[in-house]
Amino acid sequence: MPRLIGLDVGTSSVKGIAIDEAGTVLRIAERGYPLSTPHPGWAEQDPEDWVRAAVAVLEELDGDQADGIGLAGQMHGLVALDEDDRPLRPAILWNDGRTQAQCDEIEALVGRDRLLSLTGNRALAGFTAPKLLWLREHEPEVYARIRHVLLPKDYVRLRLCGELATDVSDASGTLLFDVAAREWSAELVATLGIDPSWLPVALESVAVSGRTPAGVPVAAGAGDQAAGALGVGVVRETGVGGGVSVVLGTSGVVFAARDAYACDPDGAVHAFCHAVPDAWHVMGVMLSAAGSLAWLQTVAAPGVSNDAQLAEAAAWDPGAEGLLFAPYLAGERTPHADPAARGMFAGLTLRHDRGALVRAVVEGVAFALADGLDRVAALGARPTVARVSGGGARSRLWLQIVASVLDLTLERTAVDEGAAYGAALLGGVAGGVYPSAEAAATACVVVADTVSAPPGWTARYAALRPGFSALYEADRALRG
Ligand code: XUL
Repeated sequence: MPRLIGLDVGTSSVKGIAIDEAGTVLRIAERGYPLSTPHPGWAEQDPEDWVRAAVAVLEELDGDQADGIGLAGQMHGLVALDEDDRPLRPAILWNDGRTQAQCDEIEALVGRDRLLSLTGNRALAGFTAPKLLWLREHEPEVYARIRHVLLPKDYVRLRLCGELATDVSDASGTLLFDVAAREWSAELVATLGIDPSWLPVALESVAVSGRTPAGVPVAAGAGDQAAGALGVGVVRETGVGGGVSVVLGTSGVVFAARDAYACDPDGAVHAFCHAVPDAWHVMGVMLSAAGSLAWLQTVAAPGVSNDAQLAEAAAWDPGAEGLLFAPYLAGERTPHADPAARGMFAGLTLRHDRGALVRAVVEGVAFALADGLDRVAALGARPTVARVSGGGARSRLWLQIVASVLDLTLERTAVDEGAAYGAALLGGVAGGVYPSAEAAATACVVVADTVSAPPGWTARYAALRPGFSALYEADRALRG
């Protein structure tokens, strides 16, 4: 029986999964590492930590006996390498907010419309190109020694099989990539004064990028969102999986597969290549989804389980008697592209208890996801069904609220192991076990159950949504 391995080089750990040909999970392994924040708003990691974790996970999963390995990972991070392919400094991560000045500089230099037509995306603080400009300005001695730049999972690939390569979905988040043409944007790279020889070859996600010393083929892989979507069967606009996925992780995502390239004229949602050849995706990313509830738990309910908190929330009716929450605890990407946005509770009364706060947080996250869905739906048909995954998807209340606010039926898959599962499917294509990513998803992804809106909730939430939208306006007014 073939054995396939997926590795997700995440922000807190490398998670590995071994599956068989039918997609059954054989084994899971995980190794964590720290995140360093040397200044407020910065986020860095030691690339060697990823390698140590990946090697240990592969050992635990008997990686030498695998038929194929796929890599997925946190997107947008900058790993700058010297002439010996050694990291010149800690990697600067996707959730690092130091580069707003460089983003403004890029949009002023290139023009927002031209940038959108070259890359499909706006300059956002987490993306890779602004980080290179930051290094040029603030660490010129490091910048002068750069010979190659890689994304996080691609550094792990370099150390596993000696190849400098990336894949088109992860390259899409660098802001140096022509997403429509699925190749580096020579024009943008030249305009920003970046040496094109620093960039690795960008392969389709299913391609073999190299082999481990034991001879196991390693798929080019994908950014974590594209891999995660494949892992819940969202492959193309129609067909397997129905085209849309909602992720209720620390961050929240509305992801829509597209058969043709599409780009939001305002750049409010990301336009990236999908992990499937000839497919793209548009994606709204909110930064604090289940992360908002984790925050509330830390400050208001330490030691209380998620289930207990959500049971308290279920005792309240939709809208929790006028209590609203804006989930912008770490700023926001979609739709506001505003790193300075702040979170907020509004409408508190003496009657509100901890359960009401929890309910308002989950509802606020759902409203923010609806803002993303509206933008995504404006670029294609409005979906009626979506696959759902991530920590929040374990709770029925979360799902009922999200289904009601988004006016969708949500489908949970039998396996919810995120990007690592999609990476394993890509490893299966690279290893010749499946002829294509679609075939892999068809063979492995099964819907376990569905959740729909309880009667009356959709209309109730539609009536409450303008109040939620007013919170961001109030926040902007408060900030002046
Ligand atoms: C996608 C994104 C996150 C990171 C971290 O645009 O920023 O998915 O890849 O997981």
